[in-house]
Amino acid sequence: MAKKKSKTKAKAKSRPASQKAAKKSAKKPAKKSAAKPAAKKAVKKSAKKPGNGAPRPSSKPFGQDGKALTGVRILDFTHVQSGPTCTQLLAWFGADVIKVERPGVGDITRGQLMDVKGADSLYFTMLNHNKRSITIDSKHPQGRRVLDALIKSCDVLVENFAPGALDRMGLTWDYIHNLNPRMIVASVKGFGPGPYEDCKVYENVAQCAGGSASTTGFRDGPPLVTGAQIGDSGTGLHLALGIVSALYQRIRTGRGQKVLCAMQDGVLNLARVKLRDQQRLKHGPLTEYSQYGEGIPFGDAVPRAGNDSGGGQPGRILKCKGAPEDPNAYIYFITQAPVWGPICDLIGEPTWKTDPEYATPKARLPKLNQIFERIEQWTMTMTKFEVMNACNAVDIPVGPILSMKEIAEETSLRETGTVVEVDHPVRGKYLTVGNPIKMSDSITEVERSPLLGEHTDEILTDVLGFKAAEVAEIKNSGALSAPKKEEKAA
Ligand code: COA
Repeated sequence: MAKKKSKTKAKAKSRPASQKAAKKSAKKPAKKSAAKPAAKKAVKKSAKKPGNGAPRPSSKPFGQDGKALTGVRILDFTHVQSGPTCTQLLAWFGADVIKVERPGVGDITRGQLMDVKGADSLYFTMLNHNKRSITIDSKHPQGRRVLDALIKSCDVLVENFAPGALDRMGLTWDYIHNLNPRMIVASVKGFGPGPYEDCKVYENVAQCAGGSASTTGFRDGPPLVTGAQIGDSGTGLHLALGIVSALYQRIRTGRGQKVLCAMQDGVLNLARVKLRDQQRLKHGPLTEYSQYGEGIPFGDAVPRAGNDSGGGQPGRILKCKGAPEDPNAYIYFITQAPVWGPICDLIGEPTWKTDPEYATPKARLPKLNQIFERIEQWTMTMTKFEVMNACNAVDIPVGPILSMKEIAEETSLRETGTVVEVDHPVRGKYLTVGNPIKMSDSITEVERSPLLGEHTDEILTDVLGFKAAEVAEIKNSGALSAPKKEEKAA
């Protein structure tokens, strides 16, 4: 793939990649009407054809006409998890992602939670697939020279430095926008504008500040953070959508824009149902929360709801055969009203279908503990997978609690490319999570993460077009290599 990339980049020195692609396609048949105003043209065409009009549908088979973001080049100034999640997704959709790293050190995660001596950690490899790496000291004048060239030749700059760090490098919005008016500058920060905007933020800080922790856990226990990285990876996902939208808008406006995702906002967006419940509280207790059935009064803020379902249907995690010795022999069971009849039949309580004490959701609310105890007597007679089969046969949705071991070994996830085995020159084979978004015309091939500075030379020459003498000058300046350790005083 790197080879292919190099070919397409040989003449990209002064023009952003997608601009180049657009110019190229303008030479093709569409050129005839290129002088007409875009909107007029689009309206006229869409009246005749389905979809948005031009271009004509490709004649190539699906999956063989490039990728969704082919031609887009990303200056990836991200580190740790939130930013790299975003740029990895863009790379999987075909963008050429150039990761800029500090010489000698790189993304701090390369050396965090190391398991194989001398190899980049899984933390790094699993967040940086399909990217190229160049090392640049962004504060060195020759480093800035390279960065400026990258800004001119990329479509998007993505960063998640601490607040103000990009400005301190001299890369303000005004500076970048003057250098390349088409550049989209996308940032993850912990908080949006306001009292906390200058704070550094990590995953769990965002989970707490975004309303997730106060609503997670059991009522009588402390707030809990979740294992899913909703602050980091969740915000990276939000940012990717913002970038793609900005790229789409740029087709019309011709100019870039700033895209900002604050981790607090991203978490709150994912905890939206809890803000819903906060407002419902004004109008009475939250009847689907088990504390209502237990007669425990509500306070003035949404309480932690244990394993109650957020969708308003009573749900619990119940033991299956093997629990509690097997810590994951459990299943999530929802007593959804439309399947109450089949549930009663399955658990051997057919009279509950018509008994007025059980027949309606309202009648069941004060008895949920007793009802779930009865259901658990039934689930404990089977493994979680047997419960799942029995329930799905009659359209009752249930969720087996899958361990990471079970997920890693699940063959169907391997077949869909959701769990992928990747080979790495230093660490050997490892498992990663592939692209969870499947597209029929933009197929993801997961490629290993780059070694630190692995692509420095090819980016300087093939992408940026520096001549050999210029490359030598930049390299000799020390802008791309780790500072030499100072000699100890004699
Ligand atoms: N060359 C020279 N300097 C570089 C560099 C490069 N290639 N890359 C980074 N640096 C410098 C920065 O300019 C900054 O210097 P400054 O503080 O003197 O201006 C310094 O490295 C540290 O960067 P910073 O982002 O502050 O890292 P940190 O380790 O102190 O903080 C975070 C890490 C994640 C807390 C912080 O970056 C942050 O809050 N980011 C936004 C929110 C976020 O994404 N959090 C989740 C991460 S998963």
